[in-house]
Amino acid sequence: MSESQTSLSVVILAAGKGTRMRSDIPKVLQPLAGKPLLAHVLDLTDDIHADDVVVVYGFGGDQVQAAFDSPNLKWALQAEQLGTGHAVQQAMPQIEDGDRVLVLCGDVPLLTASTLQRLLQETPTDAVGVLTVEMDDPTGYGRIIRNAAGTVDRIVEQKDANDDELLVEEINSGVFAVPAAPLRRWLTALEPKNAQGEYYLTDIVGLAVDDGINVHAVVCDDPEETMGINDRVQLAEAECAFQNRAAIALMQAGARLADPARVDIRGTVTVGRDVFIDINAVFIGDVVLGDRVQIGPNCIVQQSVIEAGTQVLANSLIESSRVGESCNIGPYARLRPGAVLERGAKVGNFVEVKKSTIGEGSKVNHLTYIGDAQIGKNVNVGAGTITCNYDGANKHLTTIGDDAFIGSGVELVAPISVGKGATIGAGTTLSKDAPDGQLTIERARQRTIDGWQRPEKNK
Ligand code: UD1
Ligand code: CA
Repeated sequence: MSESQTSLSVVILAAGKGTRMRSDIPKVLQPLAGKPLLAHVLDLTDDIHADDVVVVYGFGGDQVQAAFDSPNLKWALQAEQLGTGHAVQQAMPQIEDGDRVLVLCGDVPLLTASTLQRLLQETPTDAVGVLTVEMDDPTGYGRIIRNAAGTVDRIVEQKDANDDELLVEEINSGVFAVPAAPLRRWLTALEPKNAQGEYYLTDIVGLAVDDGINVHAVVCDDPEETMGINDRVQLAEAECAFQNRAAIALMQAGARLADPARVDIRGTVTVGRDVFIDINAVFIGDVVLGDRVQIGPNCIVQQSVIEAGTQVLANSLIESSRVGESCNIGPYARLRPGAVLERGAKVGNFVEVKKSTIGEGSKVNHLTYIGDAQIGKNVNVGAGTITCNYDGANKHLTTIGDDAFIGSGVELVAPISVGKGATIGAGTTLSKDAPDGQLTIERARQRTIDGWQRPEKNK
């Protein structure tokens, strides 16, 4: 249930070319924490329960639309970038007079929902709200000009400001809350009479004041939130700021980080109690770490669940996998999509597991490839074992029963199955099923050749 009848339409300005990125990718598709800048802004619109979202696009429009293929989004083309006021005007045909319009920028990704809520709540619905912030160095931004009584009179852009105005440290974040009907009127009244020859959205402030409508400045106390991304230096600064926030959230959720400045979160990490994360861990997508999970240095965990008490040692990669309780992984292990480790399983160094289940208490400790396999409980797989799952055309399954022992250097030519409690001798190339409980071995007879001599180097 919304608090009032007014519906909230968000307009996101994303038509700018982003020249300073020096990129073939539209600016709003540049990645921050693993997803496009625009995706961060769209997430915000979800958080504040916007009724409608209109994205104003221009440069690279096809790419932008393709990246956000959602039926709930509305699009407005701004064919020529004639200024921020002109951009908002392109969205107005899709907005009703009774709506409240919130203007956001596609290149301001660090805003928080709580700041937007404040702007919306502290501004009466029939007034104009502008989110402002005090900056030590306001260069480049539009300045908020207040009258003697302290209320907002107008906004003046850097390039149009006089010396006194340039001294003002309170700047326009570019975020506005405006009632749709007068906004429509003011937008048609804009004139490009300024240093840049553009239709400035910021001029609606002066027009509102002329109409006797209150302009309400809501001051955001964190300049980081309103930071706009124009070049790759700012993109890297925003990444840093985002990662810092994410690291703080992880610690507040109960994780211990070896160094909060050396963890990267490109998605969502959910942690239990007493999780420990060593340096240079990278988390991608949705990752869940149960109680007491330990992640060693230089690990990458993507879209996976790791249950309580599991230890992941240095330099391991885990992707789209499910790891049960009290497992041991790595160092240098690679779990590829579809790997499932049941409770207490061990996957050691230089072991690759793909689309396979390693049963409870089973061990695959050294230099092994396990692909398309179902391994039962308490199985031991010796060093250098390979499931030969691919015949050049199709993938085939390997099944290994509970308590089996696979010697070192075994090749399991799938499709194949090893019975319960079976033992496979070292060096076997197993091409027929091995029965339960017996030793199966395939090995050429060993010979020693009498009197054999090593060749000598030609002189
Ligand atoms: C704008 C504001 C300035 C504010 C600053 C905050 C105006 C005139 N100035 O300046 O007061 O301090 O943002 O970051 O509004 N865009 C379009 N179409 C256009 C022009 C811009 O979609 O024709 C989009 C851009 O893609 C960007 C946003 O609007 O997402 C802001 O445009 P930008 O050119 O970066 O404005 P600034 O000069 O930074
Ligand atoms: Ca900008």
